[in-house]
Amino acid sequence: MSIYLDNAATSFPKPDTVYRAVDQTLREIGVGPGRGGYRRGLEAGRLVFRAREAVSGLIGAGNSERIVFTHSATEALNLAVNGLLRPGDHVITTTMEHNSLARPLHLAEQRGVEVTWLQADGRGAIDSRQLSEVLRPESRLVALSHCSNVTGTIQPVAEIGAIARGAGVLFLVDAAQSAGSLPIDVEGMSIDLLAAPGHKGLLGPQGTGFLYVGAGIELTPLIVGGTGGHSSGLDQPVAMPEHLESGTPNTPGIAGLLAGIEFILNTGVATIRSTEQARVAQIVEGLGSIPGVTLYGPADPERRGSVVSFTVSGFDPSRIGFQLDQDYGISVRVGLHCAPLAHQTIGTYPEGTVRVSPGWLTTSRDIDVFLQALHAIVSQ
Ligand code: ALA
Repeated sequence: MSIYLDNAATSFPKPDTVYRAVDQTLREIGVGPGRGGYRRGLEAGRLVFRAREAVSGLIGAGNSERIVFTHSATEALNLAVNGLLRPGDHVITTTMEHNSLARPLHLAEQRGVEVTWLQADGRGAIDSRQLSEVLRPESRLVALSHCSNVTGTIQPVAEIGAIARGAGVLFLVDAAQSAGSLPIDVEGMSIDLLAAPGHKGLLGPQGTGFLYVGAGIELTPLIVGGTGGHSSGLDQPVAMPEHLESGTPNTPGIAGLLAGIEFILNTGVATIRSTEQARVAQIVEGLGSIPGVTLYGPADPERRGSVVSFTVSGFDPSRIGFQLDQDYGISVRVGLHCAPLAHQTIGTYPEGTVRVSPGWLTTSRDIDVFLQALHAIVSQ
């Protein structure tokens, strides 16, 4: 028996349509878009276009040309940060960020960008009023995660976006833990740049992701090279999305991502959200009756995504993770989850936490088995 509770890292398993789409694309299309005017190349181009449209529809972006495919959310965040910021710019972020955002910002800091790190509270939350207090004339960007990968805390992105837009400051959202699981509307939330991986809540394969770049925002490419068209000169094409996409794309992965998003659109984000909320509620309630457990994150279930972090007094998180895996076949993530600042914020640095992240396909029985196993481990 095996139970997978690490969907915050990679969703697993995927809908069958995702596996089929990857396989069919590899076998039946085989080539990349725009690499040749023959039938297969055109088919690949149509497929990537459909995927761009699906992403655009899911996040409420008006124009799919503003969706740039990347190999991960990390690449998308690096593209946004490095493509936008120049020495002298001021950026506001939070102490809850994953290293995929915190490290590019830290590097930018070393290159002359000034960064203000808003202190989140012990539950991982930022109050939008904190932002108003630190905005400056030279502020160029507010950058933060929609939902913490450590505590599951959902930040008030619509409020933050409204404040940033009112001040003429761009707003970058890391949607690594929210895309596919929480409603996202880039226009309604005043989001200018949004990065997401394909392999988590969007149910696609690893090696996929995207950056939404709002109208009128110009980014310097991370890489330049072959774009499949506009081949006559040495200058990188200025048209989007080619301006920011060079090299043969991961067409089979993008086909899988398209199938994942189609699954989400057919199921409904609201249905996925309420199912994941039910699993999270079951975990939170069950942990409450296990001796020595400290639970992190918001008390209000509306402010928590599908992530639950906890520690058990007297037990190293890695021991719990090892025993769950070894003795019960249950996969959870333990440690710092690539987010050391977040653990410093909630007081769990350097040991970290045990993190349980149910997904759309996690059953109530899976959670029962996990809770029984944890109870047995801590009772030894
Ligand atoms: N960022 C992913 C996680 O939190 C990998 O596990």
